[in-house]
Amino acid sequence: MTILVTGAAGFVGMHVAEALLKKGVDVVGVDNMNAYYDVSLKEARLAQLNRHEKFDFLKLDIADREAVNSALSDYNITSVVHLAAQAGVRYSITNPFEYAESNLTGFLTILEYCRNLQGLEHLVYASSSSVYGGNKDLPYSVDQSVDSPVSFYAATKKSNELMAHCYSHLYRIPVTGLRFFTVYGPWGRPDMAYWLFSDAMRAGKPIKIFNNGDMRRDFTYIDDIVSGVLKVLESAPEDKGNETPPYRVYNIGNHQSEPLMKLVSTLEEAWGVKAETELLPMQKGDVKETYADIEPMRRDVGYKPTTNLEVGIPKFVAWYKEYLKES
Ligand SMILES: NC(=O)c1ccc[n+]([C@@H]2O[C@H](COP(=O)([O-])OP(=O)(O)OC[C@H]3O[C@@H](n4cnc5c(N)ncnc54)[C@H](O)[C@@H]3O)[C@@H](O)[C@H]2O)c1
Repeated sequence: MTILVTGAAGFVGMHVAEALLKKGVDVVGVDNMNAYYDVSLKEARLAQLNRHEKFDFLKLDIADREAVNSALSDYNITSVVHLAAQAGVRYSITNPFEYAESNLTGFLTILEYCRNLQGLEHLVYASSSSVYGGNKDLPYSVDQSVDSPVSFYAATKKSNELMAHCYSHLYRIPVTGLRFFTVYGPWGRPDMAYWLFSDAMRAGKPIKIFNNGDMRRDFTYIDDIVSGVLKVLESAPEDKGNETPPYRVYNIGNHQSEPLMKLVSTLEEAWGVKAETELLPMQKGDVKETYADIEPMRRDVGYKPTTNLEVGIPKFVAWYKEYLKES
């Protein structure tokens, strides 16, 4: 059994790959190591993975389909966890073509690659809570319409869901899409609020609080995400041989919508610093509130997140302090 993890040098990819390796699975990781944020962090994550004998890494751009097909032809891939993407809502306002390249062309490359694999057991890919756009009904449920994205990033993720459904329908590929809700934790992403706030607090600079702090997020700790991804991966949707393709989408969140200011106070406590705040209006592309209905994933695969902000944030801060010492 060999599992392909795309975006393996990324935050979620590294953790998923590591969890699979710890279970004794062979993992092939792919990443183009782009400079959207500090490449040395991606290299440090890879160094963690390279300690495992059963890990192979290929530096590849998933938008380059010839490179993908030829580099992967030597492996007998049984399942794919597709996490490589241009992430970030705000950056997509100014850099839409990078999203088209990685999230649309790159996603299609992965679908085509999967279509041509013999005996693929399961493709699991990352969607996002951002597909809910300005939906007002909370918690967000996978039964709601998601036809009104408010950022180009969200539009690419919604497109991924349509593309994956189409391939599952045409070629009976077992596929699961996971709508991640604000993932945080050790080895996290420097463009996200908990990291940006941490850097500002350490430097004694004001933290930027959008929509005057009137925002809520369903924050999901990385270990809960990893356990959910692994549970889903092990239980591919069944092909019942009827008109319904073996395709499904789940929310993967914590089922707790926390005020943004609670993130700030939890970080203040963990760093032992009082934050200065700069209150700003809502940013283009952002949504005011996220809150995940996770019942379908609990019912189907037993997903049960256990980490709240008060536990998860100190773990991030402890890791970050160590990382700063070593880098
Ligand atoms: N972290 C979150 O809160 C969150 C929330 C919703 C959705 N997601 C989705 O989850 C997935 C993983 O996110 P993450 O937080 O680990 O982000 P990340 O940016 O840390 O990881 C993504 C990785 O993909 C790689 N990549 C990007 N374009 C590529 C390309 N064309 N070819 C090869 N590699 C490429 C990047 O170099 C990066 O290492 C992404 O699809 C993201 O959109 C994440």
